[in-house]
Amino acid sequence: MTTPVIIDTDPGIDDALAIMLAFASPELDVLGLTTVGGNTGLAHTTENALRLLHLIDRDDIPVAAGADVPLVRRDSRPDPGVHGEEGLGGIRLEPAPRSVDSRSAVELLVDLIEESADPVTLIALGPLTNVAVLVAAFPRTAAKLDRIVLMGGGARVLGNMTPTAEFNIWYDPDAASRVFAAGIPITMVGLDVTHQALTSPGDWEPLRGGGRIADVVLQTVDFYTDYHLQRYGTTSTAQHDSLAVAAVIDPRLVRTTPHFVDVECAGELTRGMTVVDLDSILGAEPNADVALEVDAAAFNRLLVDRLAALDDGRG
Ligand code: BDR
Ligand code: CA
Repeated sequence: MTTPVIIDTDPGIDDALAIMLAFASPELDVLGLTTVGGNTGLAHTTENALRLLHLIDRDDIPVAAGADVPLVRRDSRPDPGVHGEEGLGGIRLEPAPRSVDSRSAVELLVDLIEESADPVTLIALGPLTNVAVLVAAFPRTAAKLDRIVLMGGGARVLGNMTPTAEFNIWYDPDAASRVFAAGIPITMVGLDVTHQALTSPGDWEPLRGGGRIADVVLQTVDFYTDYHLQRYGTTSTAQHDSLAVAAVIDPRLVRTTPHFVDVECAGELTRGMTVVDLDSILGAEPNADVALEVDAAAFNRLLVDRLAALDDGRG
């Protein structure tokens, strides 16, 4: 059985690979993409989503644009060093022969969730602004989701944007806090596991000479690797968003445990921190399955093999 999914995303280099991984995976039926501002502005993330789908011959998949700015905070900003000003590390993809869906992201989410014969898994790879609007404005529709699998936060490995906050949660903590409180099953794929599942330049060798999609993957990996080298002094990179997609493709890749999670929305030094009650100190009901362990080797194999196969018949 395939799992119907919708991907809410801010491409974004690792989002781009995650989107390609989803389409390369027969276990998933990707119903649509919704875009959000995060790694770069909404106009770029939306254009990037359209162009990526064109690259992989999936112009049939609806793409709807959502929120450009967070619900409340006004000082969120991307780090252009990570993904480049336009989100894909300066890589120019061919324009798509169509434009964005006339519906808003939330309207498309509602239509796809209501129309699906089976409950949809919403994979959230960016700030949670669109998802927060969905759960606030359309709670009955949101309750029909099978679950939300989100890349964000951390339980023990807290931050990459600040010492205590992961980028997606930091960018819109008020949205994240509402999503965690919404009562919808959540799987949190955060820095605890994405920082254990690093890929090295050598892992991508099977894609060399593979075709036009493999070329784009390699260019994005090169840009991302350069950033990691300059910023962290290592060529190992965390493909954060692909791990969230992989956790839907094969849930055995991560080990999760249920915990209560809340988000710090006010702290001067801690805004955007996911507070994960690992020892049940608060006595609150768990609201998320938090991924704490990952089979990094199996994830790497899946990611590289599936992306390498994308050119077959299309290159
Ligand atoms: C997350 O932030 C973004 O930079 C990535 O696309 C990923 O979704 C990692 O913290
Ligand atoms: Ca992302």
